[in-house]
Amino acid sequence: MSTLLIKNGLIVDTEWTRHSDILVDGSKIVRIAPHIDESRLPQGTDIIHADGLCVLPGIIDAHTHYHLVSRGTVTADSFEEGSKLAAFGGVTTVVDFADDNKESLLESLSERRHEMRPMAIDYALHQGVYGYRDDIQTELEEIRAAGCGTIKIFTTYRDVGYLVEKRDELKEIFRAASSLGIMVTIHCEDDKLIEEINAGWKGGHRPIDHAALRPAEVEAAAIRYVGGIAEEIGMSIYVVHLSSKAGLEAVRELRSRGVTVNVETTPHYLFLDKSRLEGEDGSLYVMTPPLRTPEDNKALQEALLDGEIQVVATDHCSFTREQKLSSDDCRTIYPGIPGTEELLPLINTFAHSSGKLSLSQVVNLLSTGPAKLFGLYPEKGVLREGSDADIVLFAPEWPWVLSSETLHSASGYTAYEGFNVIGKVVMTYLRGRLVMGDGIYLGISGDGRFIRAKR
Ligand code: URP
Ligand code: ZN
Ligand code: ZN
Repeated sequence: MSTLLIKNGLIVDTEWTRHSDILVDGSKIVRIAPHIDESRLPQGTDIIHADGLCVLPGIIDAHTHYHLVSRGTVTADSFEEGSKLAAFGGVTTVVDFADDNKESLLESLSERRHEMRPMAIDYALHQGVYGYRDDIQTELEEIRAAGCGTIKIFTTYRDVGYLVEKRDELKEIFRAASSLGIMVTIHCEDDKLIEEINAGWKGGHRPIDHAALRPAEVEAAAIRYVGGIAEEIGMSIYVVHLSSKAGLEAVRELRSRGVTVNVETTPHYLFLDKSRLEGEDGSLYVMTPPLRTPEDNKALQEALLDGEIQVVATDHCSFTREQKLSSDDCRTIYPGIPGTEELLPLINTFAHSSGKLSLSQVVNLLSTGPAKLFGLYPEKGVLREGSDADIVLFAPEWPWVLSSETLHSASGYTAYEGFNVIGKVVMTYLRGRLVMGDGIYLGISGDGRFIRAKR
């Protein structure tokens, strides 16, 4: 077992920020102290001088779709490629999704776990539930026992069979999940409203029309709907990829009635608006829910600064430029964009430029917060003795430019091309092993482990 000593970095986590040394033995952090004497360590201890660098717990991207087989194709970033771009972004754990095969949740979970074995970084899973079944309680008990602590519900996508149609059935799923301590995460867009808007639609189906066909009110309506169910049961919920001011207002209403609503947003809803959909290459920016207005961006940014948002994750769902541009009809454009690698620099830059968010709060949004919500804490999400040695050496003020040239997604593009950011990941350690150092990728396919949720 190897020993690693990281000396004199500025350790930033959500409890305190201080200059300290960190000693790693094998895969775990074994000691954190202001000065750890090198002469007393085993011969061959790797010593890294982190002067001038911040030392962060590994970032957790709590919403990814690597190697997603969907709509007759597969996304651009395989598990190997996803792991690589994640390591460059300081991400040591992703929470990806298992589709519901509609026969057995346990089988669905096991299949996805098996598929994900080529991962070079760690992973956990959210389990999709795409319909009610009489034995749902037992099925949820089984996935819980198998290490899955969250389910994912859709309030849309009837066409691809994801929608749980009946309210009483959805309520039963919520109730069963809640009784088992399983977190319910929800993609919120009201399918009926979308259908009504589509039925009356006289416009075309260009990329920009996607925004009008799935407007913010549709998100707000779905949040009210699922929030109402949660309120009746007395349970908390987690809204994935909140995209709009109207959606945020629906969250506020629920919270004012005492409902605990955990909210995730993504960098694209914070920093990109629907004008992107208007250009020649508008298809590149199509995802669901669609990009909104600058006013929505601003509302979400303010909510982030005000502590109304608990997690920023990416919904990394990458298609190549060719796949994206193969259609300019919003009904058939493959939805989703890459984002894992851009997550930390974008949020760090926003934190810095706002002057209102500390790096410690960034760590909470991107690591500690999701680790706690998804039962990965304190194995993940914190620099503490006994925790996994998932460690990021980060230069918080290093200026650079996001570009397909500087990033690693196999999609061949970034939605943030030309963005000036600050904050560069210098080294990423996964359980004590260097997976990215000084721009060189050292991850090993198959080294990633499935992390069981303990919530
Ligand atoms: O367009 C998106 N977001 N694709 C990924 C699947 C989803 O809805 O989260
Ligand atoms: Zn979604
Ligand atoms: Zn998603």
